Amino acid sequence: MDVKSQVLRLLEENRGQYFSGNRIAKELYVSRNSVWKAVRSLRKDGHRIEAATNKGYCLLEEDAILSKESIEKYLTGDGRSLQIHVRGKVTSTNTVLKQMAEEGAPEGAVIAADRQSMGKGRSGRQFYSPSDTGIYFSILLRPKMTAEESLFITTAAAVATSEGIEKATGIKTGIKWVNDVFCRGKKICGILTEASVDFETGGLTYAVLGIGINVTDPVGGFPKEIRDVAGSLYGTDPCDGSARSRIVGEVLSIFMGYYRHLAKKTFMKTYRERSIVIGRMVEASGTTGSLPVKALDIDDDGALIVETKEGEKIRMNAGEIRIRPFEGSF
Ligand code: BTN
Repeated sequence: MDVKSQVLRLLEENRGQYFSGNRIAKELYVSRNSVWKAVRSLRKDGHRIEAATNKGYCLLEEDAILSKESIEKYLTGDGRSLQIHVRGKVTSTNTVLKQMAEEGAPEGAVIAADRQSMGKGRSGRQFYSPSDTGIYFSILLRPKMTAEESLFITTAAAVATSEGIEKATGIKTGIKWVNDVFCRGKKICGILTEASVDFETGGLTYAVLGIGINVTDPVGGFPKEIRDVAGSLYGTDPCDGSARSRIVGEVLSIFMGYYRHLAKKTFMKTYRERSIVIGRMVEASGTTGSLPVKALDIDDDGALIVETKEGEKIRMNAGEIRIRPFEGSF
């Protein structure tokens, strides 16, 4: 690890407190001059580091720059094995990581970015990914399981995202089947898993799980095409500088805990508890059009059980649902 990264790690661990240049130099076994150079370079990168005579250096609470060091601070348990890579702007964290997967990157490689120019959503849609206000990250998995079993990666990720957000910020969110995370009636997170299948074994060569979370509203608000559906965790309220890193660290750590024992589906109970659709009237759409139904339950295979106006119960394995603006009944 280079001096710059070590200095940032120390300052990050003591965010908001002064740390003398002398003490940093001693702890890292480097000269004070190297510490000073590292601080200068970190400031050039935009880090908010204050220097005060006789006190030393302090990474300010409002420093909101996403870094490997700031995310690693919040990794716990199974999350500690992850290798975090942070980028400023990328096309799509999923696309970058898929390329890395093809080149042999190991399971647990993570790309987190401040901004995406071509963020990908489900069904070929785009995922709006402006800078500073959201967080976009992908994790490379090489699951030793069938493609069918690995479908639960996304379900586990939805639960981990909802739980991780709550742990990091105290904000409560719900899950809209299949795997969107909602807060105050708006979508604040989308999840997209892309996989490469090994046709000989029927298993996966790899899967790239991508999660995008809107932390605050973008400057000027969301584009008008998505304004009615998209929201953010804090809205127009400010959040503290480390919020994005804390969210990523907590979500990844919780997810990795579920992923290790994916087949046990321990997350399904919480998935149901956090569902915002069970018991509600929804518009279900599939290949044959759309119809109003009542969402009754979600089974252990992740299928949504719905009831039609005629009282027929249907198990939805795929398709999309929309919560009706004026729910009423049939
Ligand atoms: C959706 O709701 O349609 C899924 C959106 C998934 C967005 C995330 S952001 C990180 C990762 N990189 C992408 O290009 N997409 C996913």
